[in-house]
Amino acid sequence: MSPPKSSSRPNTSSPNPAALFFRDAEQLLTLGGRTVPRRGRDLGELGIARGGALLAVDGKIAGAGRTRELESTARRLKARNIDCRGRVVMPGFVDSHTHLVFAGSRVDDYVKRLEGATYEEIASAGGGIRLTARLVAEASPRALLRQALGFLDEFAACGTTTAEVKTGYGLDVETEIKMLRVIHQLSAHPDAKVELVPTLLAAHALPAAFEGRRKDYLDAVINRLIPFAAARKLARFIDCFCDRGAFSVAECQRVLSAGAALGLVPRLHAEQLARTGGTRLALQVGAASADHLDHLTAADIRALARSETVATLLPGSNFHLGIRRYAPARRLIDAGAAVALATDFNPGTSPTVNMQFILSLACAAMHLTPAEAICAATLNAAHSLRMSERIGSLERGKQADVIVMDVDDYRKIPYYFASNHCVMTVKGGRIVHSRLDDARRRRV
Ligand code: NIG
Ligand code: FE
Repeated sequence: MSPPKSSSRPNTSSPNPAALFFRDAEQLLTLGGRTVPRRGRDLGELGIARGGALLAVDGKIAGAGRTRELESTARRLKARNIDCRGRVVMPGFVDSHTHLVFAGSRVDDYVKRLEGATYEEIASAGGGIRLTARLVAEASPRALLRQALGFLDEFAACGTTTAEVKTGYGLDVETEIKMLRVIHQLSAHPDAKVELVPTLLAAHALPAAFEGRRKDYLDAVINRLIPFAAARKLARFIDCFCDRGAFSVAECQRVLSAGAALGLVPRLHAEQLARTGGTRLALQVGAASADHLDHLTAADIRALARSETVATLLPGSNFHLGIRRYAPARRLIDAGAAVALATDFNPGTSPTVNMQFILSLACAAMHLTPAEAICAATLNAAHSLRMSERIGSLERGKQADVIVMDVDDYRKIPYYFASNHCVMTVKGGRIVHSRLDDARRRRV
């Protein structure tokens, strides 16, 4: 592109509200131009433009490249200038595994664990998922919605623009339906700053009322809950907790197949607490994602690498549970598996909304490079939600889901850990969070 003929003075006259011009970024991370999902060496290719710019028009990306290549168009469109000097501009985080909707907290479980009890011991003593389920059953839909909206403000402030949301604290057909409806209302809510993708986590824990009648519960899930969710399009994915103390491979296979038959795409909590064979099941049912994967065999890693199933790693739950063993991320990436990262935001095992902290954990505890972690938390995560045609990278024609980070080098996002570097979040071309003016710039 030839350099613009007019001056490079920023446009200040009544900007066009439908056009944003992110200009002069120290680094623009486009993540463009390679096969999706990213595997092996491609995972670390961020497509960096220095002195980068991005033009968003009517919610979409009209151009991404160098500032001098785009500024004349931006001026012609009277785009609002966003000064990104000394900053990194990148795609919004795609958090592909959350349990956003719940009531109360599990801070008592947390303290019990600090005193020595394990997650599984607390769960079998009536704490854990069943405790949250009791609180969800007692809460009004309005209260659930309000709590989730508050968290969504925090997600957006930390740079997340899309989040998957699971049910799973209903633990009976009626309360699961209540959760599905709350998630649906949240998605359409004018104050929701993050796009939501609903997943029916139908088999999460056996409800206390069904103790000794496992099959009856699964029959209710298969015959009533799944058809209800599918017919009303209240869920896009179906998930199960396939693990020791939760549901067996055979039980999860029944549930996932019933969901898939009605158009819900499987994803699966697998091999978090023990290796039970969930990965193989995920591959067998063509799951979009297999999540956690802390206990994998060498054969599981090879099978994942050959498959289309994304390996979604959730180091926040290892961190919070104090489990020193993390998923074998390096071996998965080096074998060629498509790896994604997510928060697993939930009250029991990972109460964090901040994908930036997940990047830090992925680097420190699982030896990803900062570049690999960013790609896993954006483009590959979008792929696991079957949305990478529209989001996850900054390429012309895609949705303008953009964040501005107050660092001059993307590697500093995980390096300065447990901070929030995000100073602007734009979802579909709309500014949903901004503290550009009061941010303290960190250029060192
Ligand atoms: O992904 N493992 C199962 N589900 C969640 C935990 C849910 C909870 O403890 O409330 C997870 O870690
Ligand atoms: Fe989870």
